[in-house]
Amino acid sequence: MKYDKNSDLVTLNRTQVSFRELKPGFGAEIINSDLRNITPEAARDLVRIFHRHGALLVRNQDLNPDELESFLSAFGELEEHTLKENCLEGHPFIYILSNRLVDGKPIGAHNDGIGWHTDYSYREEPVMCTMLYAKEVPAEGSDTIFADLCAAYKDLSRLKQEKLNDLTLHHSYKHFMETRVYNQTKINSKIEQENPDVYHPLIRTHPVDGRKALWVSTGTVTEIVGIPNPEGLNLLEELVEFVTQEKFTFRHKWQVGDVLIWDNRCTLHTGTLYDDTKYIREMHRLWVKGDKPF
Ligand SMILES: [Fe+2]
Repeated sequence: MKYDKNSDLVTLNRTQVSFRELKPGFGAEIINSDLRNITPEAARDLVRIFHRHGALLVRNQDLNPDELESFLSAFGELEEHTLKENCLEGHPFIYILSNRLVDGKPIGAHNDGIGWHTDYSYREEPVMCTMLYAKEVPAEGSDTIFADLCAAYKDLSRLKQEKLNDLTLHHSYKHFMETRVYNQTKINSKIEQENPDVYHPLIRTHPVDGRKALWVSTGTVTEIVGIPNPEGLNLLEELVEFVTQEKFTFRHKWQVGDVLIWDNRCTLHTGTLYDDTKYIREMHRLWVKGDKPF
C-alpha cells in the first residue's frame, strides 16, 4: 500500500465520522455510528483512522455474523482461524471465545489470549488486525489490555534503539501450544506442518506511515537470534516489561455491543481472567490478513 501523508491528512479533515482518543495519543472511539448502516465512504474513513491510532472502538452495536464479516471486509481480506473447531458453524471467519457450554460441550475457546502477545505472530504473514465483538460480558474481569508499541519505541534512547534495530525474533507455534498456561490444546502433526517456525524483526515498521514499533511478544518467542538463552529471553522479558508500563497501556472494560479492532502491527495485548463460575463470556473474533513484517 502506498502512503501519501498529505492526501491522508486532507481526507481525515473531511472525515464523515467523529471520534475521540481512547487515551492521549492512542486509540480512537467512534461516536454515534451504526455499523449496520455505514456508507462505504464512512467505512473508508474508519479504516484510515484505524491505520493511524492503533485501535478502534465502536460501542452499542447489534451485528449478526454476516454483518460482522461484511463490516470488517472494509479493512481487507478476512483470515481463517488456526483451530477450526472453535468457529461459529457456517462462519469460518468467526472464532468464538467463551466459557459457555451447550449440551455439556464448550461452544468456543475459554481463556484464550491470556499473556502479552500479538495475534498470529507464529505465521509468516501475521494478521493485520483483530476484531472482537462482545456478545456477553462478565460484570467484572475479562478486560483486554493494550500496549502501544510505537510509543514504547519512541521512548527508547537513540543508543538503545540502535542496539535493537537489527534484532530478529524466532517464533514457534509448536512451542506456544506446548508451553501456554491456559487453554492447552494438543496439536496434531497436520496443524504443526501448517505452522512452521518463522522469524520476524524485533523492530517492526508500520507499512502505512513508517512508524516503528518495538514488536515484542511472548508465548511464541523461543529466542532472539544471535543472543544465547537465557540472556536472549531475559532481554525479551525486560523489553516486555518496558512496553507494558502503565504509560504505554490502555485497559478496555467490555460492554455488550462493543466492537474493538486493534492493529497487530503496532500493539501488544492480553486478556485478563474472570470468575468463570459466576459469569458467562461470549465474544466473536475476526481477523484480517496481514503482510510480512519488515
Ligand atoms: Fe490475541
